[in-house]
This record gives sequence, C-alpha cells and structure tokens, in this order.
Amino acid sequence: MVQPIDVDRVRKDFPILERTVRDGRPLIYLDSGATSQKPLAVLDAERAFYETSNAGVHRGAHQLAEEATEAYETSRAAIAGFVGAQASDLVFTKNATESLNLAAYAFSNATAKAAHAPDSVDSRFVLSAGDSIVVTQMEHHANLVPWQEVCAKTGATLRWIGLTDDGRLDLSEIDSVIDETTRVVSVVQQSNILGTINPVDVLMARAHAVGALGVVDACQSIPHMPVDVEALGADLVAWSGHKMLGPTGIGLLWGRAEVLDAMPPFISGGSMIETVFMEHSTYAEPPKRFEAGTPMVAQAVGLAAAVAYLDEIGMDSVAAHEDELTGYTLERLESLRGVRIIGPRDNVDRGSAVSFVVDGLHPHDVGQFLDDKGVAVRVGHHCAWPTCRRFGVPATTRISPYIYNDRSDIDIAVEGIMAAQKFFGV
Ligand code: ALA
Repeated sequence: MVQPIDVDRVRKDFPILERTVRDGRPLIYLDSGATSQKPLAVLDAERAFYETSNAGVHRGAHQLAEEATEAYETSRAAIAGFVGAQASDLVFTKNATESLNLAAYAFSNATAKAAHAPDSVDSRFVLSAGDSIVVTQMEHHANLVPWQEVCAKTGATLRWIGLTDDGRLDLSEIDSVIDETTRVVSVVQQSNILGTINPVDVLMARAHAVGALGVVDACQSIPHMPVDVEALGADLVAWSGHKMLGPTGIGLLWGRAEVLDAMPPFISGGSMIETVFMEHSTYAEPPKRFEAGTPMVAQAVGLAAAVAYLDEIGMDSVAAHEDELTGYTLERLESLRGVRIIGPRDNVDRGSAVSFVVDGLHPHDVGQFLDDKGVAVRVGHHCAWPTCRRFGVPATTRISPYIYNDRSDIDIAVEGIMAAQKFFGV
C-alpha cells in the first residue's frame, strides 16, 4: 500500500515555507514546475560539504581532494540509483538546458568534424540536408531551440508532432512524421505547460524502428513520479536537479553507455581529456568526457541529499499525492465560471502542472492578483511559446504543486481567482 504524505510534517522541513510575503500573508507556493523549494537536508548537505571537504575533484593528492572526489562520485552513484541507472552512464551538467544542448551539439559537432575527418566520428551523429529531426509541439524552448540550431547548422529539417485540442500528442500521423529520414526524435515525457504525460515508449520505439536516436526530456517527470531511465527506451534522458528539491546549478544527462561512448564532447578543456599535445588532444571516457572544468561538487552533494529525501517519502507516494491533488485542482477550476483549462481536463496520463485562462483577464493580472494574496503561481508562455500559439492564447496561469502542498493551498488559489474575477468585474 502507498503511504500517504504527511504534508504538515513535510512542510516543517522547508524553512522558506515559514516566511510571509506581501504584507504578512503566508506563502502559498504553487510554482514548483519552475523550481522546487529545498528541504533542510539539502541545505545542510551543501553546507557540510563546504565546511568540511571542499576541494577540487579528480585532481590533487591531499586529503580534502580525496574526500571531495569521494563525495562527488558517491553522489553520482546515489542519483543514478534513484533513476535505475549506472553511475558511469550519468553526466553532470549545469542544468537540463545544458543537458539538451550537450545532446544537440553532439550532432552539429560531429557534422562539422565529419567535413574534415569523416573517420573520426560516429556516422549516426552526422547530419545533412534531407535528414529530419522530430520534436513535439509541446516542447519547452530548451528542447526546441537547440534542435532548430542543429538544423540551421547542418541543413536538416525540423518536424514536429502536433497536438489535439485536449492537449495530447496527435499520433495519427506518427509514421509519416517519423520516417526513414529521421535521425533524432526528442520529446518531453511530461509537459511543463499542459501537464500531459506522453507515451515515450511508443515514440522511442518508432524512433528506433527508423534508425533514429531517441532523446527524452524528463524535467517534469523525474521529480514527480517513479522513473527508470533505462526502461524509457531512450538513448539519452535529460533533467534538472532544482525541480526535484535539489540545488540550482546541476542538471543530468543519462545516456546508454554505447551512445555516450560514441558522442563527441560538447564543452572542452580540463578534466575531460585523456592526453593533451600542442597539436591535438584525446578525450576521457564518459561521463568525464562531458564534464570539462571544475564541476558542481556541492550541488551534486545537495542533489544526493534531495534524492535520499524523496526516497524516504517514496516516489509512489509522491505520484499518488500529486495525482489526488491534480484531480482536486481540475475539479475546482472546472467548477469556476469563465475558467478554461489549457491541457487535459481529465486526470488520465496527466501530471500536476495545471494551466488555465480566465475569460476577460490577462494571465499576468491573475498572477499579480494571486501574488497579492500570497499565492505564487507562474504566468506567461512557460518557455513553451509555440504551445500557447497552438491553443490561441498569449499566455496562461499555471498552478504546479509538489509534496509540500495540499488541498488547502488549491482552495486559497481558487478563492483568489474568484476574487480577481469579482475585482475586475468579469
Ligand atoms: N522551468 C520552466 C517552467 O517553469 C520551463 O516550466
């Protein structure tokens, strides 16, 4: 049986939730899709690292350097274990955007190198005119713009899977969108704006059927549900630490060992090399090949504490808690006059980020009104501008709860929306 989350107890672990905002109002934080808050365990772990073991990793023979290296690599193993992966297949980056750029640059860098030294690169990463890259119309900009750049550099064409009116992928033409010209399929597992959970297994299977590589953006799924990255069927999976209770400044890229091994480096410099001569260099094995420079050691330690915290609660419990809260949020918003949900209106294959528009009110006015009541939500295009265009809205207001929210937070947000309607006379 899945253990229910004791939200009152959880809240006590998050010092920021004690504070008040806007003339003494209690903070109601419903913007975890943008970034989650951090429990004391994460803050303590980072502080303890700096207080006791701070040093450069994988260099230096002194005790602190050894301890820091041990902390860094132990954290990698813990974070890998959390998603069912091997530590050697997990690369630390600055954030998910960098992880997705690392994946995208593998193609443009390999294509550039192939022009001069075709034997130095794996041909799976070499693109030319006539090749296609497939994304979806619900990608956030981090999984769209890097692929646009790859197309601009290589002559490949960007294609996308469109959306149905209820915010699902329109898979009716999947076989013609992903075809024998397709070299990469890069899709989001759970939409940050619509909340939709996509059938990534189907998409990855189709990618592999045509010989393409498959990339999954798991930024909004790994923090909210149990995910085994190896079971997704992807070649590369990107996500960030800060949306799953961890610090900012750390992202992750998991890759199938054989695929990582074939990928050219992205950022080059110290730490990612094997040997260096004046004329040329050779590169380290993954994951080090992709971790140039002094890495984010304290952030890795903090993120390891975050996954320990989530493990203690249990990701099944996290998913069940959010599922219940999502159902409640949808029900309450649906009951409001003049409120339209942008995204799935039923709680099937759906995460807890719920976007909506209010007739007669700009989302920024809704957000500002809620902010005056102490309620933090995100407004705007949520870095998914084409998705907003698809639904004919300039922006939305988004409620995105997490383990420290309960029904009372949703009630306060809903009362705020009703008060905004009354205030603005709509
Ligand atoms: N971090 C962005 C969000 O708020 C993309 O969803």
